[in-house]
Amino acid sequence: MKIEMIPLQIHGDERGSLIALEETKNVPFSIKRVYYMFNTQGGVRRGFHAHKELVQLAIPVRGSCRFLLDNGREKVNVTLDNASCGLIIEPYIWHEMFDYSEDCVLMVLASDFYNEDDYIRNYEDFKARVTHE
Ligand code: TYD
Repeated sequence: MKIEMIPLQIHGDERGSLIALEETKNVPFSIKRVYYMFNTQGGVRRGFHAHKELVQLAIPVRGSCRFLLDNGREKVNVTLDNASCGLIIEPYIWHEMFDYSEDCVLMVLASDFYNEDDYIRNYEDFKARVTHE
């Protein structure tokens, strides 16, 4: 499975660091929505879905977490622990997030508004869809 990590340029000086996110430039889609997860409790695992059309870029702006990515044939674990490196989540990739550090703020940029119809939340449905394509 191809894992697409997007390096984000840090504009740093003696005052600290700054990263700019620009749609269709360093973010490879038009951004319709941004959400972020924080205060994630210890041992929590979340996600457990794939999308039909949505493309997302996940950036650990603080702390770290891990992703399980599954295309129905292969499963890969990816650690996100660098605020200057984002992970692209393509459609039809089952994903689960876990091992959130206590301070983790995971920001996600999304190519569309929240739409429950775009979710595949049942793993068997997901498997059936990706193996019959
Ligand atoms: P949920 O889908 O359970 O998060 P995850 O699958 O990443 O663990 O979302 C939690 C709640 O937040 C659920 O009630 C739906 C709502 N939600 C929105 O209203 N807008 C959004 O953009 C997202 C991602 C979730």
